[in-house]
Amino acid sequence: MSDQRRNSEITVKPLGYALGAEVLGVDTSAPPAPDTVSAVNALWHEHHVIAFRGERLEPQDITAFAGAFGPLDDHASTPFYRHQDFPELLQVTNREIGGKPSETRNTGRNWHSDYAYTSHPAAASMLYCDTRPPVGGDTMFANMVRAYDTLSPKMREILDGLDAVYDISLTAGFGQRDPQQTAETRRLNPSIAHPAVRTHPDSGKRALYVSERVSHFHGMTIAESKPLIDFLCAHATRPDNVYRHQWAEGDLVCWDNRTTMHLALTDFDQTQPRHMLRATLLGGQSGFIVE
Ligand code: OGA
Ligand code: MN
Repeated sequence: MSDQRRNSEITVKPLGYALGAEVLGVDTSAPPAPDTVSAVNALWHEHHVIAFRGERLEPQDITAFAGAFGPLDDHASTPFYRHQDFPELLQVTNREIGGKPSETRNTGRNWHSDYAYTSHPAAASMLYCDTRPPVGGDTMFANMVRAYDTLSPKMREILDGLDAVYDISLTAGFGQRDPQQTAETRRLNPSIAHPAVRTHPDSGKRALYVSERVSHFHGMTIAESKPLIDFLCAHATRPDNVYRHQWAEGDLVCWDNRTTMHLALTDFDQTQPRHMLRATLLGGQSGFIVE
């Protein structure tokens, strides 16, 4: 697995109008050569969500491929949800773990950007579909650069001056999880504020960084903030600004958490297995603790 493979011709097939493209001609089962990484990064910055399809991967293949794009998070912020043998892989699964249904079976049930509630929001995520239910289990993505660009100049100016506060305990479904695990996850991740608009470090694009996991804007009350958060989420997730991915086993879907948000749908029979593995590319330290 140590050989770096060169890919002769890399092409893309757009998957959605606002974002999303399938990348063809890249072998995901081996670490990509640096020129492949550069070519893929350019496409990724352009399309925000990219998909590699149809290659069966083992956990070590995913970490080797993803690791070529930057350092991987070891998921210490959510230690209960990581793969036993590969801490660089988070399991998003409804399989039983230790004789109990996994706490991650309801991961991502509201619009969010990964690890926004931590002091090191994820730069990007790569999610591999190992097992999917017969129908559904789709994931939706929204283009937050386009969401920002389509706001009025005055609204952009207001948002440029705001910080958004994240409180993991307010996340949908969090209260229904194992109380001991959630208490520890909360302890590891106190409330934190991040800028409501971020500039992508590589592409220079400005993107809205507000999701359904924002509890309020720093210095404003929850009552004052909620209508604005609701408006921004509705604006960002309008049908013309989203892409809905229908998974096939063997898909590796990669999203930029700095320019998109996403949502895991419940459009499937939850007695059927759905097993996904996520590698998370580290972003830098950011934000300030609010408590
Ligand atoms: C994630 C996530 C969505 C899904 O892995 O970060 O939100 O559809 N998953 O599993
Ligand atoms: Mn997620």
